[in-house]
Amino acid sequence: MGHPRVDAIAQEAREAVAAAQSSAELEQVRVRFLGRQGVLTQLLRSLGTLAPEERPRVGAAANAAKRELEALLDARLPRALEAERRASRARERLDLTLPGRRPPRGALHPLTRVHDEIVAIFAGLGFSVVEGPEVETDYFNFEALNIPRDHPARDMQDTFYLSESTLLRTHTSPVQIRAMRTRKPPVRIIVPGKVFRRDVADMSHSPMFHQVEGLAVDRAITMGDLKGTLELFARQMFGPASRIRFRPSFFPFTEPSAEVDVLCFVCDGAGCRLCKQGGWLEILGSGMVHPRVLKNVGYDPEQVTGWAFGMGIERIAMLKYGIDDLRLFFDNDLRFLRQFA
Ligand code: PHE
Repeated sequence: MGHPRVDAIAQEAREAVAAAQSSAELEQVRVRFLGRQGVLTQLLRSLGTLAPEERPRVGAAANAAKRELEALLDARLPRALEAERRASRARERLDLTLPGRRPPRGALHPLTRVHDEIVAIFAGLGFSVVEGPEVETDYFNFEALNIPRDHPARDMQDTFYLSESTLLRTHTSPVQIRAMRTRKPPVRIIVPGKVFRRDVADMSHSPMFHQVEGLAVDRAITMGDLKGTLELFARQMFGPASRIRFRPSFFPFTEPSAEVDVLCFVCDGAGCRLCKQGGWLEILGSGMVHPRVLKNVGYDPEQVTGWAFGMGIERIAMLKYGIDDLRLFFDNDLRFLRQFA
């Protein structure tokens, strides 16, 4: 039976079906043999060009080969499609029992935490938060605060000058002046903010750091009020057993002036590494507002008195958390920051 040329085509088609690995490859076989340009289709179409006695034998063989190939494809294609659908379902399956992926939890920067704590303590005592500009004039940063022309703080070595009369504030004290100029006593404010000094960064210096200024002005405000307020602050910040002491000091804008120490909470005053054996830790500068400063803002020093203090947020945070290098606050090393989560 058959015909040698058609038999060769049929055999080729069987092998192609057997070798096909996917529905797409089976479809390629179908196109190759049965498509409009397919080998068998072309052969059947060209029967008319054959010798008349050859036509029936080639025609019958070609039709038989065509039917056989169609049957082979019909048998394999649905199974190939089903297998492919199953594989894709398995690939895309969602495992609803997998634990969820938690977003990493952030933490407040230690300086933000200490800032918030300081603000909360003084808010509880009736102080309101006031802020002022970081770019200041010479008048507010120095002149109005009774800091004389030849004071070393005015030196180019300490202050970032932007022009002859403007600078980056070297402390938060200029906001005392701004606040008193716009309000009448009683004044009870705290002023957190950035300050700038021409220092090279090392373990205890940074060209930018943070201060909180405190100011209370009213009739008959005394240094006793200052001491009581700071005692309360120290107990809330460093623990209920905290004690403070005043040491005489000097600031041009306060008279008298005092530096305030807190009893070392690591050794209770016995002397240790944190307090460098001294038993006390310096936490801020303070004093009674100088009468000349009160005059500069239009207050009458015969009628009102006041006290002020200024503390470094970094300093408080270093003491509280036992941090020995100021630069850690600004390096943003996650291994450091994560400890405050
Ligand atoms: N402004 C002072 C400083 O930066 C601190 C201070 C503030 C002292 C208020 C007394 C009163 O060192």
